[in-house]
Order: sequence, then C-alpha cells, then structure tokens
Amino acid sequence: MQGMFSWILVAAFLRLLPLAATAQTTSKATTAKGAASKTTDAEGHQWWQHAVFYEIYPRSFADSNNDGIGDLKGITSKLDYLKDLGVDAIWISPCFPSPQVDFGYDVSDYENIDPMYGTLADFDNLASEAKKRGIHIILDFVVNHSSDQHKWFLDSKSSRTSEHRDWYVWRDGKGPGQPPNNWTSIFGGSAWTLDATTNQYYYHFFYPQQPDLNWRNPKVKDAMYDVARWWFKRGASGFRLDAVDTLFEDPNLHDDPILPGKNAFGDPIEEYKYNSKLPEVHDVLRGLRKVTDEYNGVLIGETWTVDIKELNKYYGEGNNELQLPMDFLFTTVNKLSPADFRKQIAAVDSASGWPTFVISNHDIVRSYDRYGDGLHNDQIAKLMAGLYLTLRGTPLMYYGEEIGMKTTPPTRKEDVKDPIGRIGWPTEKGRDGERTPMQWDESENGGFSKTAPWLPVPATAKTYNVADESKDPESVLNFYKKLLQLRHTNRALLDGKYVPLNENDQNVVTYLRSYKDQAVVVSLNMSGAEQKVNLELSKHGFSSAKSLLATGKSAAAGDVVTLEPYGVFIGQLSK
Ligand code: NOJ
Repeated sequence: MQGMFSWILVAAFLRLLPLAATAQTTSKATTAKGAASKTTDAEGHQWWQHAVFYEIYPRSFADSNNDGIGDLKGITSKLDYLKDLGVDAIWISPCFPSPQVDFGYDVSDYENIDPMYGTLADFDNLASEAKKRGIHIILDFVVNHSSDQHKWFLDSKSSRTSEHRDWYVWRDGKGPGQPPNNWTSIFGGSAWTLDATTNQYYYHFFYPQQPDLNWRNPKVKDAMYDVARWWFKRGASGFRLDAVDTLFEDPNLHDDPILPGKNAFGDPIEEYKYNSKLPEVHDVLRGLRKVTDEYNGVLIGETWTVDIKELNKYYGEGNNELQLPMDFLFTTVNKLSPADFRKQIAAVDSASGWPTFVISNHDIVRSYDRYGDGLHNDQIAKLMAGLYLTLRGTPLMYYGEEIGMKTTPPTRKEDVKDPIGRIGWPTEKGRDGERTPMQWDESENGGFSKTAPWLPVPATAKTYNVADESKDPESVLNFYKKLLQLRHTNRALLDGKYVPLNENDQNVVTYLRSYKDQAVVVSLNMSGAEQKVNLELSKHGFSSAKSLLATGKSAAAGDVVTLEPYGVFIGQLSK
C-alpha cells in the first residue's frame, strides 16, 4: 500500500513505536479583524466543536491562472461549493513562500503568500469572502522547522556568532565525518547535515532543507507566537500545527534505541525516544494557546499519539493546550472491523477533550482505497462518511473524499514528485497518489486547470467529479451533502452522548447519539452481506426509529434495522 510509510508507519515509529446551525448565544469578543467572534451555544460549545473542517491541499484544489498549480483565487472561486457541501472551516496546507522541497512544508517566509499561490491581497480577499459565508480559515503552521532558505537560517549558518545562530540546532560532530549522534531523519539518512562554512552539523528531523528551529531559544518562541498573531489579525481563525511531536530534542543528544529491521530508505529503524514528544513541547503549546485564546481561535495538532494517555497530554491539563489534537489512531484501523472501530471510538470518546476524527489527509492513502474492496468502494465511502460524520467530535475532511477520489500513485519512478518517493522507490512511492488534482468535471484535466496539472488527473475523473455527481441523487457527493446537512441541524448528532449498542456484533457498528430526551441511532454494516440488527429500543426507552438518512433499501421496522451490504441507517428514535 503505497509504501504505507505514509504516516501510518510513521506513527508506529514515533516513540516506538455555518458555525453550527443551532441556537446560539453570542457575545462578540473584541478580537481583531478576521478572528472568529466569540460564539458559544447555550451549553458553552465553541464554534469549532460544531464545525466541519475540510483540508485543502492548495496545489491541487483549483487553478485560477491555468499554470497547472492550484492557488488562492482558485480556492475563493470554490467557496460556494464548500458552503453548499456543508463545510464550516477550511484548513489550507502551507501556502507561504517556499522553495517547495516538501511542497510548502519548508517555509522561507512565515508572513507572506508564495507567488505561485497568489498575494497577500488574494489571501485578504479569500478571508473576507469566506467570512461572508461563515467559513473559517485555518492555516498550516509549520512550527518544527523552517526552510533552509529562510532568512533566519541563512543568517544562522553564516557564522558561529551570527545573530540567529542559536535559532537552530547546531552541534559538533563526534569526530571527523561523524554526525553528533545516531538520529536519523524520517525522510531518510542522518538527521544531521554538516555545514562546511562553520564546520558544525545542523539538525533536521525531515529533509536537510528543513532545519529544525531551536524552541529552547525564547527568541524563537516569541517570533513564532508573533507569526500566529500576525495571521490571526489578518483573518485566520486558527492553525493546524505541523509536526508538533518533534519540537524538542534531548539537549544531551543521547543516541536513540535501534529497533530490528530497516525502513523504506534502508536506514535502521529507530525509536525516537530522545527527539520526539519531549515534555517541553507542552510549555510551547500552552503559550500558543494563550495567544490563540486572544482571538477565539482554534489549534489543531498533527499529533501521532500511540494511545489516549498521550492524546490527553496534548489537550493539556484543564484543556489549556490543543483544542483538537488529531486522533490518528482512528486512521490505523485499516480494515472494516466493527470491533476495532468500536474500541477506537470508545477510547477517543473517553479522552479528556473534544474528539477530532480524521480518515484521510495529504500524507495518508485515501480512505476510499484503504477501506474499499474494489467492488463496493462507493457504498463503503458512504459507510465511512456515515461513521466519522456522526460521531461526537469534530470531523476533518480531506478534499475529494466527498466525491470518492481514489489514491493514484505514480507508476514510474521518473514521474514521482514527492522526494521521499524517489528516495524510497519502489517500497515507498511517496504521497503524490493522495494529492492529485480535485476532480471538478469531466473535461480535460478534470476542470482543475486548462493546462496539464503538476500531477496527472486520475482517469476516474471522467465519472467521479463534482459536476456529474451533483446531478446523481445516489452519488457519494450527494450522500455527503445530505449527511452534513443532517449533522448541522440535528442536536443529538451535534452534542449527543455516544452510546454503543450491540457490541458483540461482528458485522455492524451501531450506536446512539443521545441528547437529553432525544436520540439518533446510527447503524453501519461493515460486511458485504445483508444484516439485521435488533435495536431492542424499549431498553433505551424508545419504541421506533424513523429514517433520517439511509442507503439503498436499508430501513427500520419496529426494533429491527435491515441493512443492505455496506448499508447505512440513521434514524431518529421516538418514544
Ligand atoms: C507533516 C506534513 O503533514 C507532511 O506533509 C510534511 O512532509 C511533514 N510534516 C514535514 O513538514
């Protein structure tokens, strides 16, 4: 599976391993320009708890100037589509100036827009158009490292006594030609690169062109907090924090323990014991949260936690760190296994903060292929939507998921754009497959651009595209739309408790979302055969279930829900 290094294995390596459509009481905070107004509902829910988030990979979403690469004006042109879909917040993967070694995750100026994506004026326009539609903008804050072309790093490497020397992690080698310790980069090779001018090594958890910032230096902290303020004032409502796990390293540079085997790059597998999830990260997050609270913003974290104990640490004591640490544990369930999903949902539901559910992103093989069996992928796509969009928590969608976009990895090494795919070929084919252009219509290049795009448009664009699916009442897209509309207007789906039912069922995941005296039942058939589920409604004080949304012939009669293969049934319970 596409090298499956794709961040799911990374997870294993790390440490070894419209604002809600419900009644609102609104108090306007005196926040800057674009930051969200302070809006909580009668029960104190924050805007981001009821919002549906949608990740946009800007290179691949919509190309307004037909140069083959998406841009901010392209995103602005699609806001009505997003609004109609039911999206309340867009997380835009990095769109800042960058040499694009890691497609924007190597930032050379934190306070500007890369010309390939447009200008600051384009951002301002996007922010104001989004605001008109009640859509929040979340930026991707690459906090662990900058580009080696950032002015801070250029100065840092210019001499051992430069002003910014200590903004990055510099060390002497162990001996001639020997890096300071055994740490390897997650993108292959040593995590240390020798700089000939000053004859010291700098540290980079990712590519050598992505030197790690030294967060032990208070000046780095201040500068980065100022970056956050700068974007909040310009209209951002929050940040997705990139690679938070790796902000700190052991100052004594202990060697990491070596595990058996080699990774896709031929390097020994390491337990990132001394360079990941160090406790100091929480001081930084608490500080950034204070900044974020000034603007009623939200912090989402790229947090590769191995269990709920670790996840809880990222919420912070009294929830003073990340509001939405991503629960990637959910993405590690790679088969339609009711037992595994139940276990994971229950775990996240017990977390100390508000759950966040993700099933795809720009680093992970798309859910359409992870769960699809090749024959029933559309039904399974609806099934998965039926799952992660009805759970208690904030869902984070990935562009194209709503139309059943398929992961389409390159078939030849010479076509690979993602550097890790070239280094790790053929075991690791990189992440191009999940980053292909959005499929808008069946015209050439999927309506994404009038020029050949930076990555080829998958052949499936001829049938899986927004224009065609909008017209088909049975499409994946229309299922998403109906489901999101329901989610936004149904109090039990927004706020209800998660109550698992029929926990021994080997084929069907069933649960209630119960809110005061109301409840919604969700029943999801994870098998390829018809299934019947007895809801035993009287046990829960109800007598019947009325369909709110169901696939195909799935329906309830009395206590029994009959589900077609991979069927979904969502019903309102009545007494
Ligand atoms: C995580 C991002 O999601 C990934 O795309 C990137 O390559 C690394 N962080 C490095 O920034």
